[in-house]
Amino acid sequence: MTPPTDFNDRMLSLGLARVSEAAAHASARLIGHGDEKAADQAAVNAMRDQLNMLDIKGVVVIGEGERDEAPMLYIGEEVGSGTGPAVDIALDPLEGTTLTAKDMPNALTVIAMAPRGTLLHAPDVYMEKLAIGPGYAKDVVSLDMTPTERVLALAKAQGVKPGDITCCILERPRHEDLIREVRETGAAIRLITDGDVAGVIHCAEAEITGIDMYMGSGGAPEGVLAASALKCMGGQMWGKLLFRNDDERGRAAKAGITDLDKIYARDELVRSDVIFAATGVTNGSIVKGVKREPNFIETETILMRSKTGSVRRMIYRNPIK
Ligand code: FBP
Repeated sequence: MTPPTDFNDRMLSLGLARVSEAAAHASARLIGHGDEKAADQAAVNAMRDQLNMLDIKGVVVIGEGERDEAPMLYIGEEVGSGTGPAVDIALDPLEGTTLTAKDMPNALTVIAMAPRGTLLHAPDVYMEKLAIGPGYAKDVVSLDMTPTERVLALAKAQGVKPGDITCCILERPRHEDLIREVRETGAAIRLITDGDVAGVIHCAEAEITGIDMYMGSGGAPEGVLAASALKCMGGQMWGKLLFRNDDERGRAAKAGITDLDKIYARDELVRSDVIFAATGVTNGSIVKGVKREPNFIETETILMRSKTGSVRRMIYRNPIK
């Protein structure tokens, strides 16, 4: 029998699903109400309450921000009942606050758990990201390549023309050059307004989502969450922290990061087995959004374990009291 202090991912995974479900339930009534903060707060409260019911000695390593910025689920907050395995928790109670406020697709609640000390303590800065799905040779693309080289290399690996490749990119002014260059290769681009955890996950199911490669910069915390998901589903990912000023470099120092130019491969972002759960808030291509009927509420959760590569999609229906 597994000692209660071991990272028993099999048993812990259902608890993790409950945490992400609860956050989705809580933010559901705020979908489309134009209030990002209220939607996020509802998800934070629910996620924290559920997390504290789990028999873990958890520490939030990717959370709502530094302690002085976030009263709950801040980086370093201890969560769980305090008995059981020592674990790192990475979470984003509402990934896509604006998507939720505007009732746009692909808002998720997201959480990952791994043995203590094995998730990168990514500071709240940007990260340059590159991701592809499973089935390719190791390092077929890299962050050192230009966007053009990446598209050509991936097309060659697939045996298709560059025009048959679809990249997913966050629509931001900082990505204007990237978007122009990718278009010049003939590749298609799925522009997303927010939610790059979902953007990266899309690469793992290219035949369903139509997305072959994710590239561009977004939140570093979201990068660790996305790497956790890809480690479960298969797929390669790389991330490089980007620093705009001394304050951001200071955040890295506080997180114990000394090599500011390092390119992290997926398994350096997530150094051991990990479990990952995400529940749909608004409808998306990974999971459906929360469905509210007069008497019940229904959610869909994707629950995954890297140890086994198992991917569950769970529908949870609960009566409204
Ligand atoms: P929020 O849910 O916190 O609003 O984050 C959404 C998001 O789009 C992330 O998915 C992404 O990593 C980040 O914001 C990008 O940041 P920015 O909006 O500054 O480009």
